[in-house]
Amino acid sequence: MIEYSPIPLRKFVAPEFLFGSGAISMLSRYIKNLGVKKILLVTDLGIVKAGWVSVVEKQIKDSGISHVLFSGISPNPRDDEVMIGSEIYQKESCDMIVAVGGGSPMDCAKGIGIVCINKKHISEFEGVDKIPLPGPPLVCIPTTSGTSADISQFSIILDSVRKVKMAIVSKILVPDAALIDPITLSTMDAKLTAETGMDALVHAFEAYVSNASSPITDLNALRAVELIRNNLVQMIKSGGKGEHADNMMLGSLLAGLAFSNASLGIVHAMAHALGGFLDLSHGECNAILLEHAVNYNYESIPGKYNDLAKAMGIDINGMTYTQIKNALTESIAELRYKSGIRHGFSELGLKKEEIPLLAENALSDACIVTNPREAAKSDIEELYAAAF
Ligand SMILES: [Fe+2]
Repeated sequence: MIEYSPIPLRKFVAPEFLFGSGAISMLSRYIKNLGVKKILLVTDLGIVKAGWVSVVEKQIKDSGISHVLFSGISPNPRDDEVMIGSEIYQKESCDMIVAVGGGSPMDCAKGIGIVCINKKHISEFEGVDKIPLPGPPLVCIPTTSGTSADISQFSIILDSVRKVKMAIVSKILVPDAALIDPITLSTMDAKLTAETGMDALVHAFEAYVSNASSPITDLNALRAVELIRNNLVQMIKSGGKGEHADNMMLGSLLAGLAFSNASLGIVHAMAHALGGFLDLSHGECNAILLEHAVNYNYESIPGKYNDLAKAMGIDINGMTYTQIKNALTESIAELRYKSGIRHGFSELGLKKEEIPLLAENALSDACIVTNPREAAKSDIEELYAAAF
C-alpha cells in the first residue's frame, strides 16, 4: 500500500505584473497612481544605448514627475554600486525606484531600495530573510528573457572584497509591479539571448527538483521547460522578435515564478561562486553546469527528473533510469551547444587549483540548501572538474 503524504504547506508570492505587448508603455499609469515625486531610474549603459531608457524617460516626463538616472552598473552588480545608487537616491530625495534592464540593474535596484530604508550596508542582508524593512516602491521592466528578477524575491550582489556573489533572499524584495513586454527582447544579441535563456532553463529545472517545490511551482516549472526547449534556438535565429521571443518571455516568467517560490539548487550555488570569483556571465556558468548537476542529482529524485525529461521532448517509455538520465543530460547539452555555448570553464579562465576555494564558497551559498541531494565539498569539486 502506498502511504498517503499530505501536500506540504507552501506560500506563493508574485508581484502584480503586466505581461504582453504594450506592457512597457503602461509605466505612466503606475507612477501616477503611486503619487510619487521623484524617481531613481536604475539601468545600465547597454539599455540606454538600446533605446529603452528613452521610452521610459518620456513616460516619466509626460507624467510630470522628475527623475534622476543611475546607470553605473556592471554586468555582475557590485556592492559599491548599490551603495553609490543609494547615496544618489537619498541626496536627490527620491521616493520611488524604476529599474529597466536585465538582472543586473534590477538586482541593484532592489539592493538600493533596502539600503536606503534600513540604513545598513548591502552585505548585512546576505542570506534568507535578513531584511528588516521593505524598500520604497519598485517597478521593474525586464529586457531579457532569463533572470526574472522583476518578479523574484532574490537579489544577487557581488561582494567586491570577498569576490563572492551574495544571495539576498526575502519576500520583501518582490517588486511592487513588473511590466513584462516581449518587445524589449528585440535588442538582445545572440550571446545574451543564449545565456539568459539557458539561465531560465536552469531556474525551471532547479525549482522543479527543489526541496521547497510545490504543485504550483511545479506547474510553472514544467511549462517553462517546454517553452524554452521549443523556442530558445529559434528565437536566437529570428533575432529576438516574433512568436519565439514571446514564448521565451513567457517561459522566463514561468521559470521565475517557480524558482522565486521554490528556490534553486547546486547549479546556482556553484555559478554564484564562480561568477563572483572570475566575474563571469551568470547564464553561461549555469548553462555549462546544468548537465553535470542533473547527472549528479538524478538518483535522489528520479521521478521528477523523468518529468523534466518528458518536458524536454524525450519519450521515456521503456527506458531504464540510466537511459533516461543519459538522454536528459544529452538533450541539455544539445540545447546548450545549439544556442552557441560550447566551451568549459578552463576556457573562461578557471584554474584547477582554484576549484577547492570555489567549492567552499558554493557550500555557503543560500541556493545549496534546497538542492535535492546534500552535497559534500568533494562532490562540488568533482562537478567543477567535470565542467572544466
Ligand atoms: Fe539564475
